[in-house]
Amino acid sequence: MRSLIDFNDGWVFHEGFDGVLTTNPRPGRNVRLPHNAVELPFSYFDERDYQRAFTYQKEFEAEPGWAGKEVTLILDGAMANSVVYFNGVEIASHKDGYTPFGARFTGRLKEGKNLVVITVDGSENPQIPPFGGQIDYLTYAGIYREAWLRISAPVSIGNQKIETPDALAATKSVTVNADISNPQGLAYAGTLTATLKDKAGKTLGTASGVADGKSASLAIGGLTGIELWDIKNPALYTLELALDTQHGRDESATTFGFRTAEFTTEGFKLNGKLLKLRGLNRHQSFPYVGYALGRAAQERDAEILKHELHLNMVRTSHYPQSKYFLDRCDQLGLLVFEEIPGWQHIGGDVWKAEAVENVRRMIRRDWNHPSIVIWGVRINESQDDHDFYVETNRVAHELDTTRPTGGVRFITDSELLEDVYTMNDFILGNEELGGNRPRTPLRPQQEVTGLDRIVPYMITEYGGHMYPTKSYDQEQRQAEHVLRHLQVMNAAYGDPQIAGCIGWCAFDYNTHKDFGSGDRLCHHGVMDMFREPKFAAYAYASQCDADEEIVLKPVTFWARGERNIGGTLPLMILTNCEEVELRYGNQPPKRIGPDRENFPHLPHPPVVIDRRHFSAEELGLWGMRWEPAVITGYIGGKAVKEVKFADDPVAATLEAVADAEIVARHQTVRVIVRALDQAGNKLPFFPEPVAIEVTGAGKLLGPSIVPLRGGATGFWVEATSTGPIKVTTSNTRLGTTTLNLTAAQGTP
Ligand code: GAL
Repeated sequence: MRSLIDFNDGWVFHEGFDGVLTTNPRPGRNVRLPHNAVELPFSYFDERDYQRAFTYQKEFEAEPGWAGKEVTLILDGAMANSVVYFNGVEIASHKDGYTPFGARFTGRLKEGKNLVVITVDGSENPQIPPFGGQIDYLTYAGIYREAWLRISAPVSIGNQKIETPDALAATKSVTVNADISNPQGLAYAGTLTATLKDKAGKTLGTASGVADGKSASLAIGGLTGIELWDIKNPALYTLELALDTQHGRDESATTFGFRTAEFTTEGFKLNGKLLKLRGLNRHQSFPYVGYALGRAAQERDAEILKHELHLNMVRTSHYPQSKYFLDRCDQLGLLVFEEIPGWQHIGGDVWKAEAVENVRRMIRRDWNHPSIVIWGVRINESQDDHDFYVETNRVAHELDTTRPTGGVRFITDSELLEDVYTMNDFILGNEELGGNRPRTPLRPQQEVTGLDRIVPYMITEYGGHMYPTKSYDQEQRQAEHVLRHLQVMNAAYGDPQIAGCIGWCAFDYNTHKDFGSGDRLCHHGVMDMFREPKFAAYAYASQCDADEEIVLKPVTFWARGERNIGGTLPLMILTNCEEVELRYGNQPPKRIGPDRENFPHLPHPPVVIDRRHFSAEELGLWGMRWEPAVITGYIGGKAVKEVKFADDPVAATLEAVADAEIVARHQTVRVIVRALDQAGNKLPFFPEPVAIEVTGAGKLLGPSIVPLRGGATGFWVEATSTGPIKVTTSNTRLGTTTLNLTAAQGTP
């Protein structure tokens, strides 16, 4: 039987690389994977700090039970240009920083201690995508995903592709094509058995057949009562495979879903029904630790996108992301646009060959995820390159006949070799460059494509550098940030020929000096790097139906003099309520409905309160004195949510909220800290220090004294063993807040 051993502990980390390390274990820093080679400050660092070589060593003893088995090290992701040495011999290498690779130990294991050594090189090697030009993100060095030791029969189940050819028929079937891994080239004959199970573990069908070649295919048909995988009901099934040969038994289990996904000239269709895609781009980076957070943090990001931002799509800009993130997207019903590594630059022949391999690796790793509905097979925002992109498309279509390709460009009149024209349309805000075009949220499709026909079309970026916005920026700027996101979404909703829009971007991210605000940060997120929402986050969140969550977010700090000239009008309230009531001081309340005039296409336009809603006398009073306010959301005539604003905010509470109370050992939990006024609103301009202390079975990732930014900050706590973890956050004015968490036994 196969086993997958957690191989993340017991690594010794060294700066640099020296050939002597391949044979000699040396004392160094003891680390556990995932690991970030160079811990970075929050901002204003030199990104060249990690752009060099590092080495990881690990000694281990083989177990007697491994005799006669295949023993393979699997690395889920290491940045970059990894080379694996085993007992002094180079046995594997892998240039790409975003896909998994294996290194066979079989036949090389010796009695006593074995030494595995992995070197990674964080320098931006121009032979490897995405490097060779400038890129607007960081590629933090290190073995930043998990490592496993796979022990299996010498003839075992390799990669497998599961397809559901007639997902919409009443009677369905599932097919599987499994590679048979036989690296020793043994003669063998065997049986492959497939068992389909539902999520309760009930068997729904089986099939078996002869396996004696390089691959084997099976089909299970006649399936009735199968639930489709959908964004609201992401039904998953498991296909278990067993391979029995004279060399032993191997088993695997893969989850998948029954669904169809198509990009048509009328828009995107999931299971035959039109669905407007509403998404954001996600970089997989975190403060201080770069890429190196494990399962819980990856899953949490998917949960934030689905349940806090209420998106139905994410683009994994600009590379394949963690399998844990994608698994969670499957479980949550969050659609994914996945793409190969790259950013504007196309390198030479070696580089291009590697990019084509990246297409192959991405698709072969991820083709069973029902959440993935399109493959990005162009280098993000590169120029046309006919032969190169004919090849990336050919490879994608040959490997996967069920999903369309896209290729993200910002150029117009680009050669369409993909199934979907995927466009970064940054036209909004362009009028500021002095052109004579009036403010335009999105260009008409044919103006962009230059084609004489309508084609499947999707917007893959907007916003971003056109309007960078910090969580601590002036209210007016943040309101404009909100408006831009709303206007593009409104335009996308209003044009049936647009499948949907994916904004730039979900979370702020660290970047090179040539981008962002000089602080090594692109403040382009609708959330900051801690995933704390800016106002623009609610532009998205408020588009969900109220049965998912009632959203009521006034875009204001409620201060008399924060905006230019003063006041808070026009006041946008991001909400999915039917009406909003504003009570200002003792003035008669105003009930106002959504602004369908300016946002006719949005599922839930914002309520906009402006001067028109007040008499001259009332406006005069607003000018005379500043009052508290109560904003209430109504659905079906009933008050369903309320936000109160104080007219005299003072620092009242230090709030600390953990994403979970129980955290699995070796996993992390995020804690958000907020300074609140007496009405429970964040104090946007309270940049005071917060001291963080973590004791017990956990440790703090990052510095222990941090400033509040925009009234909040965040950090991750890692469970180092099991037992209680005490997290205290304190501020000299607001006192101390304590969280009692529990670190429990768990898997990586
Ligand atoms: C795009 C690019 C993104 C990001 C964004 C900033 O051109 O594809 O990676 O740099 O601009 O707005």
